[in-house]
Amino acid sequence: MRIGFVQMTPVFGETCHNVNHAEMLIRQVTADLLVLPEFFATGYLFTDEREVWSLAEPVEGGYTTGRLVSISRETGTALVAGLPERAGKSCFNSAVMVTPEGDLYVYRKTHLFDREKLFFNPGDTGFEVFTWRDVRVGIMICFDWFFPESARTLALAGAQIITHPSNLVLPHCPQAMVTRCLENRVFAVTANRGGSEKRGSMYLNYIGNSRIIDPGGKVLGQAGDEETAVVITDVNPWESDNKQITSRNDLFADRRSEQYRLS
Ligand code: ACM
Repeated sequence: MRIGFVQMTPVFGETCHNVNHAEMLIRQVTADLLVLPEFFATGYLFTDEREVWSLAEPVEGGYTTGRLVSISRETGTALVAGLPERAGKSCFNSAVMVTPEGDLYVYRKTHLFDREKLFFNPGDTGFEVFTWRDVRVGIMICFDWFFPESARTLALAGAQIITHPSNLVLPHCPQAMVTRCLENRVFAVTANRGGSEKRGSMYLNYIGNSRIIDPGGKVLGQAGDEETAVVITDVNPWESDNKQITSRNDLFADRRSEQYRLS
């Protein structure tokens, strides 16, 4: 199975332009599953709630999701991509997974980062695993990585590949994802954006460094901090199903949940 990421640098507020750019990048490669960044079509650094509401879209029937569905059908590539989702009176920081068969799945970011808390509702979908052509795919979004429960919940639910649309600004995630993969024995694809955004008095620099990592913690593919990169690698998702660490240690069977006292 060929999986990978599109690292790109959206122009803030230019949804149509950004989707066109993503489509051009997607069409350059042949892949089964590609992951795009968080808010890949809108940009990230919203100045106020009005801006969020003007750029957020419903998933069902929305422009961006509709374009992703068409691109997926035409290219044969399943796509995972982040967008601000309008749902009734709420906005969520969401990611969709669309497949060439027309399936549409939604994940709403559980752990909101910093100013996202001003504009978005905390996600209410939980961490679900989506099965596509027998492969089990999970989604978490950017800052979710900081909470090991996110990847663990997906792995315990059977995810073989964790897709991770991101707009990373802190430097730690690329390295931390090696541990997330190792401690859960899963593949992960982190798709980050590049570049920077200056909006009013606010400025953010995004670190790029998108990565594909295997269940042994090996980095199979990566980008630097460039604005645009598409990287694909061949993987066998069923490697994730082997949770054996030594002949006496099975990662999940050895868990001692009664000792953890998690609240
Ligand atoms: C982030 O969660 N976008 C840092």
